[in-house]
Amino acid sequence: MDQKTAVVTGAARGIGLATADLFLEMGWRVVMVDRDAEALEAEAGQRQSVRAVHCDVSDPDAVTAMAEAAAGWAGRIDALVNNAGVAEFGPIEQTDFATWRRVMATNLDGVFLCSQALVPALKETRGAILNIASISGLRASTLRVAYGTSKAAVIQLTKQQAAELGEYGIRANCVCPGPVRTKLAMAVHTQEIIDAYHDAIPLNRYGTERELAEVITFLCSDKASYVTGQVLAADGGFDSTGVGLPALRGKPARA
Ligand SMILES: NC(=O)c1ccc[n+]([C@@H]2O[C@H](COP(=O)([O-])OP(=O)(O)OC[C@H]3O[C@@H](n4cnc5c(N)ncnc54)[C@H](O)[C@@H]3O)[C@@H](O)[C@H]2O)c1
Repeated sequence: MDQKTAVVTGAARGIGLATADLFLEMGWRVVMVDRDAEALEAEAGQRQSVRAVHCDVSDPDAVTAMAEAAAGWAGRIDALVNNAGVAEFGPIEQTDFATWRRVMATNLDGVFLCSQALVPALKETRGAILNIASISGLRASTLRVAYGTSKAAVIQLTKQQAAELGEYGIRANCVCPGPVRTKLAMAVHTQEIIDAYHDAIPLNRYGTERELAEVITFLCSDKASYVTGQVLAADGGFDSTGVGLPALRGKPARA
């Protein structure tokens, strides 16, 4: 029972899978949660010290069952990574209510539900909640009325969790990824968008799943034991460049 355990949602691929793998390298056990049963079983089957739990994080009953299965298997839960997310981009006038609800259901309701279900277990370990938002929750952009709003809400939810759960020793932090070449991003990023991101990001490139996992696992670890309520953009500098127009680069001028 000395071995720590993380619950990672959306762990069947992308940033969630890389995070699960890094926890395993750190010697933790991992409860891998995903609604894609086939991909989840395929990935979990190739790993030791994991338990796969098929769950749609937007379904309250499924989340209750997931929390019971996770705590029952592990005996202790030290970190919850709310990573499961969906992206549907479209103009405000063409975003119907069903689309809005689909995005909110996973990206926001899922974070609320999974956190609430696992708070009792996290109280016992004085554990950590790590929510995945996005640079789209920090900076507004076109076509992201549902996605960007859901991610901005996750940032505020993180601060609410930090404010209320701190007295139990539970830390809550938020990571805002910049673009990473996962299935989610590639579904909504054209080559034109990829090129534009490369121009606008100070590091001139997309991030990797592993780079995100490093930040996520750090914030869940004891190394970050005095850090709570924080929002960290792992985004190659994108969020810091308020007037970082690509056209201004490398052109010294005086007026
Ligand atoms: N990739 C990027 O560029 C990027 C940028 C900013 C933020 N993010 C965020 O990072 C997180 C991970 O994204 P990714 O790029 O790895 O995506 P991905 O699509 O590769 O993986 C997401 C995983 O979540 C699962 N999932 C989706 N909805 C679920 C639900 N309701 N219940 C359970 N599982 C569900 C999917 O089945 C999938 O396995 C998301 O929250 C996303 O919004 C990603």
